[in-house]
Amino acid sequence: MKGLILSGGKGTRLRPITFTSAKQLVPVANKPVLFYGIEALRDAGIADIGIVVGETHEEIRSAVGDGSRWGVRVTYIPQEAPLGLAHAVLISEGFLGSDSFVMYLGDNLILGGIRDLVREFERDRPNAQILLAEVADPTQFGVAEIDDGRVVRLVEKPKEPRSNLALVGVYMFDSHIFEAVKAIRPSARGELEITDSIQYLVDSGRAVYPHMVKGWWKDTGRLEDLLEANRMVLDSFETRIAGEVDARSRVTFKVVIEEGARVTGSTILGPAVIGSGSEIVDSYIGPFTSIASNVTVRHSEIEHSILLDGSRILDIPHRIADSLIGKNVEVARSPLRPRAVRLMLGDSSQAGIL
Ligand code: DAU
Repeated sequence: MKGLILSGGKGTRLRPITFTSAKQLVPVANKPVLFYGIEALRDAGIADIGIVVGETHEEIRSAVGDGSRWGVRVTYIPQEAPLGLAHAVLISEGFLGSDSFVMYLGDNLILGGIRDLVREFERDRPNAQILLAEVADPTQFGVAEIDDGRVVRLVEKPKEPRSNLALVGVYMFDSHIFEAVKAIRPSARGELEITDSIQYLVDSGRAVYPHMVKGWWKDTGRLEDLLEANRMVLDSFETRIAGEVDARSRVTFKVVIEEGARVTGSTILGPAVIGSGSEIVDSYIGPFTSIASNVTVRHSEIEHSILLDGSRILDIPHRIADSLIGKNVEVARSPLRPRAVRLMLGDSSQAGIL
């Protein structure tokens, strides 16, 4: 069995971060989302992985390389534009050949992996196996209708959903999917939809098995979801302190401090991770916070947030919460008069001010 990870697309919902970086490389608990997908496939025994890449291909290639770090072989499949999930399958036929495969959306995170699902697929040998989960707002997802345990209908992001069963971003197919992706036409939004291709399989009498996901999963395409994913992964951490913590600091509950990080005069209340080369001085880092490498936090308080490499938070009198702060961003008090909030924010930035 092969793996196909989709890591193209645009990432509009995470702008401005995704103006300069692939959404699949945004870190959750200091590890790019995409790496969780590679590890899930590897742990399910899949060693031959194709990664569909778009505009951000250089960045993805330099982060992932040839896959040897995980003991897998990675083949890159360039997609000229994000023309849909089924289009990504279509252009991957050369790589996939006649093998069955797991298609894994590169911005999805499934806690607990997919090993059992792959085993189930290999045992039962349906033409397709889809994962479903009950969600509060199905309009954001592909939605499946089940009748008597069988998939009868799939609709992509319906305005009026007929069930609350969302398609999770992991699918298993045999080579019949190629007939389906070739038969369908682009949807109203101009994409070749994987939901339409699966509907084609259903309508042609192929075996499409649903599988309910019991564990936690998330599409990390939006800020709230990314922060929730960060919360879930950090919560599974055990304390590990490899960096320096001075005697004036207090570090409590599921805290990882990487080698080369320095904590002075601060309180770190986990779950939290502080990356290498970062400095936390006279500050409070609260639960569910991931601080990447070479970050400085001085005289400030942060919780439930993700800070990317090289950012600096200096002397902020209000607690920062629920935030995603990009690479090399500086948030600092301004000494200038008249007193004012002074901002230089990129396009599509969001700032919440007290
Ligand atoms: O997260 C589950 C949902 O994922 C499903 O419920 C939907 O049925 C499915 O269409 C998908 O919806 P999204 O709107 O979240 O898809 P998105 O555009 O975010 O693309 C998912 C991943 O695939 C993402 O890593 C980008 C990549 N991609 C996307 C397109 C459209 C490609 O590599 N090529 C593409 O052409």
